[in-house]
Amino acid sequence: GATIAQAGGLVNFESVAIANGSGPVPTISEDYEYQVLIPWGSTLDGSAGGYGGDPNTRPTAEEQKNLIGIGHDGMWLFPIGDGNDHGMLAINHEFGVNTHVLGKPDPTSLEDVRLSQHAHGVSVIEIKKIGGKWQPVKSNNARRIHVNTDVTFSGPAAGHPLLDNPAGNSPQGTVNNCAYGKTPWGTYLTCEENFHGYFGDATGTWTPTDAQDRYGFSTDGFGYGWQNFDPRFDLSNSDYVNENHRFGWVVEIDPMDATQTPVKRTAMGRFKHEGAEITVGRGGRVVAYMGDDERFDYIYKFVSESNWRSMRARGISPLDRGKLYVAKFNDDGTGEWLELTIDNPILSAQFSNQGELLVNTRLAADTLGATPMDRPEWATVSDFNGKVYFALTNNSQRTMPDAPNPLAPNPDGHILEIDDNARFTGTTFKWDIFILAQDTRGTEGVFTDPDGMWADPDGRLFIETDGGQPDGLNNQLLVVDISTGEIRRLFTGVFEDEITGLTVTPDRRTLFINTQHPGDGDPTVTNFPANQGSGKVPRDSTIVIRRKDGGIVGS
Ligand code: FEO
Ligand code: CA
Ligand code: CA
Ligand code: CA
Repeated sequence: GATIAQAGGLVNFESVAIANGSGPVPTISEDYEYQVLIPWGSTLDGSAGGYGGDPNTRPTAEEQKNLIGIGHDGMWLFPIGDGNDHGMLAINHEFGVNTHVLGKPDPTSLEDVRLSQHAHGVSVIEIKKIGGKWQPVKSNNARRIHVNTDVTFSGPAAGHPLLDNPAGNSPQGTVNNCAYGKTPWGTYLTCEENFHGYFGDATGTWTPTDAQDRYGFSTDGFGYGWQNFDPRFDLSNSDYVNENHRFGWVVEIDPMDATQTPVKRTAMGRFKHEGAEITVGRGGRVVAYMGDDERFDYIYKFVSESNWRSMRARGISPLDRGKLYVAKFNDDGTGEWLELTIDNPILSAQFSNQGELLVNTRLAADTLGATPMDRPEWATVSDFNGKVYFALTNNSQRTMPDAPNPLAPNPDGHILEIDDNARFTGTTFKWDIFILAQDTRGTEGVFTDPDGMWADPDGRLFIETDGGQPDGLNNQLLVVDISTGEIRRLFTGVFEDEITGLTVTPDRRTLFINTQHPGDGDPTVTNFPANQGSGKVPRDSTIVIRRKDGGIVGS
């Protein structure tokens, strides 16, 4: 991308004042403007209809199959033409609680469960700027991918007995799609985070295995109740004993081919995948930085076997063959990437093959002594300085500080900077604390709970927050000048939302983010994006942001 020199600094816009950063509708810097795109329930092609937020109705399960889902999170815009006013948008629908999606706390039929399942997953739509406004348009490549869409497995665990059920059901679905990745060959990666929360015990006869315990499966999960009507999600149903292994993966989607079957890339491990930030490292290898978002869980990276172009030329996915590592941080500012391989005798004593190891990635990482972190969320690689940034959102339960997680407890979170060796492909790294969020308290740029992040090529770091913000602020989008540490507030969301997802047009004159779970779905808190006072159910929405003068976003 073009580097634009800025008079007076990289981040020049007027910050949203703390006093203005709250309320039932968003606030944006006076130098910027926004429009709303694709609220939950919108049609995929911009035609009339869909669900508009009527508090007395909800879409039917059949309707929701072909409407924008809920819980907007990670996304990327894949250019059509120069991409500055046209592209395919792939967007995750992470979650939607029953009270929001169904309008009641528990499903009372399979129809209810199907509605909930169809509201999750991913949308791929074609969007275009027409008359100054972005909108979805008719497209041969638009599609919904949800919990009942056919998927396939690839990589070392594909075909493993641990991914087969006695029921013989073929693999279907993706769920709790949190952050994202994008590959150099133009595909989208959607990452399955809190998949355990959709399973439960319908009969009261299930007892967790050690592995299920480590992954957090429980009797009621997050209270979705799917297990009561759909046996796939019933942990006590022996016909579906391995269904729980089929989630927790990175899933590859071709945004330009609606007939493609989404592929679960098992070489990248099974855990509560936040995202998969991909860069190209030494020798043309693709490298993915990945967080496992749970208190005291780990940071991972995957490095492809060889040059991605040559692998693809040989018909091999670079995401199917390579090395998976977990991070061990030393207190002296160095660190090591520990390889999760069955060739390590310590791991071959625990697992019979690489497939079994990958299904149980967390257990293998425990064995190697990886460093427990304060909830790893997004990673972003800065092309400006070659550093990798990781958001550690918070950890209220930490009692013992260590150098990379220096606060106990850590209610506000922090951001780590990793200087990875051998152009991202090495087995050692250096690290430093980039920001402790608590250090922003008392300043104009105050924030806590960093989650989504994106580093632009000019040296800006965009930070999105998810958590109760200080000083009465709603969740926010901030822009940091990496070199100077200056922070400005570009946007604040609505009551009880979270700011998620981030993509830009190639010219970086348009930025897309999301408000996720606005008002936690409660129309007495906010009616966004409908008019305040309309009584409408608030709906997750994409927010399209432009500088009023048409400049680079973040400037
Ligand atoms: Fe879905 Fe860790 O955020
Ligand atoms: Ca979220
Ligand atoms: Ca997140
Ligand atoms: Ca979060």
